[in-house]
Amino acid sequence: MRSLIDITDLSPAELDGLMDTALDIIANGKQYSDMCRGKKLATLFFEPSTRTRLSFEAAMYELGGNVLSVTDAASSSAAKGESVSDTVKVVSCYADIIAMRHPKEGAALVAANSASVPVINAGDGGHCHPTQTLADLLTIRREKGSLNNLTVGLCGDLKFGRTVHSLIAALSRYEGLKFVLISPEELKVPSYVKNDALKKRNIPYTQTTDLASALPELDILYMTRVQRERFFNEEDYLRLKDSYILTPEKLKAAKEDLCVMHPLPRVNEISVAVDNDPRACYFKQALNGKYMRMALILKLLKEAGTL
Ligand code: NCD
Repeated sequence: MRSLIDITDLSPAELDGLMDTALDIIANGKQYSDMCRGKKLATLFFEPSTRTRLSFEAAMYELGGNVLSVTDAASSSAAKGESVSDTVKVVSCYADIIAMRHPKEGAALVAANSASVPVINAGDGGHCHPTQTLADLLTIRREKGSLNNLTVGLCGDLKFGRTVHSLIAALSRYEGLKFVLISPEELKVPSYVKNDALKKRNIPYTQTTDLASALPELDILYMTRVQRERFFNEEDYLRLKDSYILTPEKLKAAKEDLCVMHPLPRVNEISVAVDNDPRACYFKQALNGKYMRMALILKLLKEAGTL
């Protein structure tokens, strides 16, 4: 059974195919409005979410399908001590496809090994978040025309930020990319991400704590929230949370066609005054996420023989 646990489960050709489908959905949405009639998506969210869960649900509704939803771990059998493995075996009896978010790294893989329907990882702890990356890739392709030959700055909590890990893994398979990793010392990209995606492929990258000096060379600036829920103590979070705040003043030094991204939710990392700048792409990113999730649901249901 084909699931999506890690972004590298999809080949670059498959990523291109999903983006092509998403662009076709944007152009010809009506033709897709009945494709999942009678099919059910279960969203199992054991961690907070607004856009990821709602965009999965909107995606399934726009394909004509239905949604079953667990939004609160405390109200599900997980609170009684049920294992992830048992939960998804049961949910496989009711739904054709599952999207799951869980606070533990590796939980989505455990789920995929037990489920008899496709499982989509909607975020597993501080590990990865492949469907956010699908949204990010489509955004870059639409804004920049291509995913090649770009200087990409990632800024903020690069240690716990799972969207960053998946995005680096995905982008490292395109041509001519350079990465600038901007974070406090304590929140640098984990070694395993650098080793697997960057070092193995000899992709150029630099690490810095200084956003202002990195900004002028960037084509993409991907801001992230400091991931409070993954910290062991509140003092460290309070010390680091406002390390980077993007303002219109700072953006003056950036390229005119810079694309400013953020997976959202934003806390303080981007001043609201930046929202009116044409370079702000983060709300478009949230919309692109819905189209990519539609494309992914279609692909996985087709491969499972359900459609
Ligand atoms: C991200 C996540 O859950 O990792 N949110 C999202 O899905 N768009 C980013 C975050 O929570 O900071």
